Amino acid sequence: MKSPVSHVLKVLHERYATLREGKVADYIPELSKANPDWFGICIATRDGHLYEVGDTRQKFTIQSISKALSYGLALEDRGEDHVLKRIGVEPSGDAFNAISLKPGSGAPFNPMINAGAIATCGQILKIDGESRIERIAKYLSRCAGGQLEIDEEIYRSESMTGHRNRAIGWMLRNFDIIEEEPREILETYFQQCSLKVTCADLAVMGATLANQGFNPITGERAIAHEYVDNVLGVMASCGMYDWSGEWIYRVGLPAKSGVGGGILAVLPGQLGIGVFSPPLDEQGNSVRGIRVCMDLARELSLHMFNPSAVPQPALRRSYNASQVNSRRRLPAITFRELRRYGDRIRVLELQGPLLFSTFEPVIRELVKQAAYCQHIILNFTYVFSVDAVSLRMLHQVWQQLAEAGVRLICCHAGRHGHPIAAAGLGEESLFTTEDAALESCENEVLAGILPHHEMVPPPVGLLDCTLFSRCDAAELELLGSRMESASYAAGDTIIQSGSRADELFVLTSGSVEVRLNLGNKRYQRLDVFSSGMSFGELAFLDASPRSADVVATAGVECRIITRALFEEIGHAHPALKAKILNEIALQLCDRLRQANIEISALRN
Ligand code: DON
Repeated sequence: MKSPVSHVLKVLHERYATLREGKVADYIPELSKANPDWFGICIATRDGHLYEVGDTRQKFTIQSISKALSYGLALEDRGEDHVLKRIGVEPSGDAFNAISLKPGSGAPFNPMINAGAIATCGQILKIDGESRIERIAKYLSRCAGGQLEIDEEIYRSESMTGHRNRAIGWMLRNFDIIEEEPREILETYFQQCSLKVTCADLAVMGATLANQGFNPITGERAIAHEYVDNVLGVMASCGMYDWSGEWIYRVGLPAKSGVGGGILAVLPGQLGIGVFSPPLDEQGNSVRGIRVCMDLARELSLHMFNPSAVPQPALRRSYNASQVNSRRRLPAITFRELRRYGDRIRVLELQGPLLFSTFEPVIRELVKQAAYCQHIILNFTYVFSVDAVSLRMLHQVWQQLAEAGVRLICCHAGRHGHPIAAAGLGEESLFTTEDAALESCENEVLAGILPHHEMVPPPVGLLDCTLFSRCDAAELELLGSRMESASYAAGDTIIQSGSRADELFVLTSGSVEVRLNLGNKRYQRLDVFSSGMSFGELAFLDASPRSADVVATAGVECRIITRALFEEIGHAHPALKAKILNEIALQLCDRLRQANIEISALRN
């Protein structure tokens, strides 16, 4: 089945494939060999899905599009202050090859025109024996997610005819914008422009910029997080040269064009666009590329100033420990007490990009909850990004809550964990799962309300096992004499998922976890039982295969009712079987009631 998104691209491709406006660049002779009918469109989403139509895998030279990315490398090498002193960030309103330098300082107006790009090349360092062009090629390859090579013919063709750029290079040397002979810098610039890309590569580069510098295909960090907005900023203001004003008005996306016929556009936080078609307009921008981007912006409402582009509030949902608890099963009386005080623990599920406008409502909620809670858990499962402002605010509210006696912890932080810990919360505030975070908070609340509650229940006799709570002495003696006994060490698998269910287990000491196997040694904890509790009833009763593993998490002693014994008790002692079944039914009623409360809390 064709995606509707692919259909949009197909319609656009058919709409402009026959457009005959524009002219293939020939001031670099080799460029004139391009086929004017080449035409590809590609969208790459920030999570790495590509939609493409036409000549999206046709290689061509990146030309000026490379300037945006090498600017990111120069910032990483030299820092903003150093680069800003030598290269402005003002749109020049001039053509890309204008010798437009600021009066007095001689600094280029911005890094997108040739003068700024050549100056940018001069800021890139040679490190560990690697030349500038080797580092630039590696950097752009990481952004594209594949090895980019130089088109030697086009490089030589530009090097032999690049007299204007050489004049710019010497002017830059004259003003000490570059502090060395410009020859090598100019060759680097020509080689950088001659790197071969495809239309799909451009879209992935755009998605890398949309994804905070992480390449969504390779998962690799390609651009330093702190410079992504600088690169996008100069693309938005200067990327289309003396058409930049009309571009941001009509398309509204940070973009960069190249005389090879490519256009790269970015919708920050969402997607990258690559369009390729060699015929250019007077400003040196691809004619078909401009039309396609204008139509995409309009038809898909991509304009970054589009009011619907406002990110949704970061607070996805909220609930407390009277509604949702850890998977660790507590004795009935203890559980009832925990529920009574469950509002002392609150979970806030967050989502989307955390930036001032989306995270500020969360801060307000945290301050409000401080009046009721002892523990607040922030769940980051659905969080896409956490910017520096949010990290700073998170640390400040964490400190304020701690001073008010409220513990703030985070779970499912993933790649945000290290920045959160480094912001001041520390590793001890991070929990891998919400389940573990809830259990930690529950333990602290229980310690306060039931000071004698033992987190690790002691060994018990049959009399204290819930399943036999209604049995009389004779029945207990019968069970004690007929049930099998078994011991397990921590880590032993007691029940294997998928196996036959001919036993029902009663724990007399230790604890076990019910685990859903997720593969690659990962699992989800579904339940935790401790001494006095039973497990394995469901499959035992309906004779279905075991639905999960049960693993001992400490030394375990348990008694076992086999299927044969249970049938024998049914014939010889029907009242005893009825008591056991009644207890199982009451436990299942309680679990179902608890599940309904959780589901309603998680649905709001
Ligand atoms: O320096 C030049 O003229 C070429 N290597 C790059 C110019 C370019 O791509 C302008 N962008 N549309």
